[in-house]
Amino acid sequence: MARRRRRLFARWYPGLAASLEERGLGEWRRRLLAGLEGRVLEVGCGHGVNFPHYPGAVTELVAVEPEAHLRDLADEQAAALDRTITVIDGQAEALPVETGSFDAAVSTLVLCSVEDQDKALAEIHRVLKPGGELRCLEHVGSANRVIRAGERAFDAVFWSHAFGGCHTARDTGAAMARAGFDTGTLTPRRFPDLPFPLWVSPHLIGSARKPD
Ligand SMILES: C[S@@+](CC[C@H](N)C(=O)[O-])C[C@H]1O[C@@H](n2cnc3c(N)ncnc32)[C@H](O)[C@@H]1O
Repeated sequence: MARRRRRLFARWYPGLAASLEERGLGEWRRRLLAGLEGRVLEVGCGHGVNFPHYPGAVTELVAVEPEAHLRDLADEQAAALDRTITVIDGQAEALPVETGSFDAAVSTLVLCSVEDQDKALAEIHRVLKPGGELRCLEHVGSANRVIRAGERAFDAVFWSHAFGGCHTARDTGAAMARAGFDTGTLTPRRFPDLPFPLWVSPHLIGSARKPD
């Protein structure tokens, strides 16, 4: 059932993402990825919407995506760019790559959807070199406990079913710290930049580092 929901979501996500790109998400992606270099792993790359934003100093990008339809689109995006990008099948909870082999990892709007966030973050931590960083842009649960309880209920009855297993109530910053990342430089931010808050407005943006 969860698998089927994710497959359906994969069909309409690229259209939804296109409207968000115009609302400022594209600019956030560019800022998030600025300064990256070396070998980078992107987890849950979707249709490859981050690919054009990687700086030239990124010498190799390996992008993991479990949905076949999104992988095909990501492959097309990679082929259109003159870059070393490999798109592979895989899940964040069991990354098919070597331990300690990446300078940086990237996750944008993915840790809300993985089935097991602790396992996914332990895997990302495993594949990074000591001192490597996880650049992330993730929507997270509200800091207000009452609102957070409402988010959990909303996830259970509607949101996760409609949005491919996405959760609005996750405390992703705490999960990163549990996995061993230094999260001190992650910034809470509201997105999109509207005069009123949306259900999924609170975000964490920035870099979490694996200690040396
Ligand atoms: C909301 S989309 C975001 C896609 C892309 N990262 C972006 O910024 O537009 C969520 C993505 O996470 C992927 N995903 C879901 N569960 C996953 C898992 N366990 N491991 C890796 N990726 C996963 C989905 O297939 C989808 O591509």
